[in-house]
Amino acid sequence: MPNRSSLAYQARYALRHPEKIVPHLRRLARDTRLRLTTTDHVAYYRAVMRSDTARSADAAVGSKTRESWLALGRMQYDYLVGHGLKPTDRMLEIGCGNLRAGWRFIGHLKTGHYHGIDISPDILHAARRTVVQYDLQHKLPNLALVRDLTFDFLPDEHFTVVHAHSVFSHSPRHVIDECLAHVGRILHPDGFFDFTFDRTDGPDHQVLREDFYYRAETLIAMAERHGLAAKLMDDWEELPHKQSKIRVARAT
Ligand SMILES: C[S@@+](CC[C@H](N)C(=O)[O-])C[C@H]1O[C@@H](n2cnc3c(N)ncnc32)[C@H](O)[C@@H]1O
Repeated sequence: MPNRSSLAYQARYALRHPEKIVPHLRRLARDTRLRLTTTDHVAYYRAVMRSDTARSADAAVGSKTRESWLALGRMQYDYLVGHGLKPTDRMLEIGCGNLRAGWRFIGHLKTGHYHGIDISPDILHAARRTVVQYDLQHKLPNLALVRDLTFDFLPDEHFTVVHAHSVFSHSPRHVIDECLAHVGRILHPDGFFDFTFDRTDGPDHQVLREDFYYRAETLIAMAERHGLAAKLMDDWEELPHKQSKIRVARAT
């Protein structure tokens, strides 16, 4: 698990993958422009999502093909059902994107039990198209635009399952800290919050302020500072996915 922000790593990577140099330089130019024209991380990442979603909503959430979109959603869904996700659960998906996994959760859960939030209006429009595509209107999924992770509009102890896939891999420390500071209030006492992250065994680092790499210990300690119990999910590590997963619950 190398430090992708180091020049030595980037030079070695460029030599091994010369075809990726031009796309990387294009992304660098785009990200620099967006950084200069936005005021904070959420505004910046919202602009990144606007630009990516205009090209392809599936690619904007990280799937280059529909097959991989379906497979990645299925992996998230199967994992949670394997961990006991029931139709009566009340679920909050943070960074729901265009419902790659969300459409399966909506179908599984009782009417009105799925809430998806995202910072990007563009991807939420795409999420509504997914609801229509899979005829899920009768399940009344709640899809809300947010600009922070304080969850102030959501009730105490409501959600039995909170889920965030590939969101903290795009989040600086203060965003994750805000989420962990507030998620305990909306979590049911028996509920849990699962999130994935790009794991490094070296120092925490980021690339282009778009991709963030954390030590598991960093995130576990952050959760504990907010009175939560956190553990790395070993069975997730066995799946063909490059991110790791941490489960957080209210500490007893
Ligand atoms: C890589 S996509 C993954 C989407 C979805 N979780 C999935 O697995 O298909 C990351 C999503 O998180 C959203 N996002 C990024 N930072 C966020 C934040 N601080 N709060 C809420 N959503 C965020 C992005 O707009 C994007 O839709």
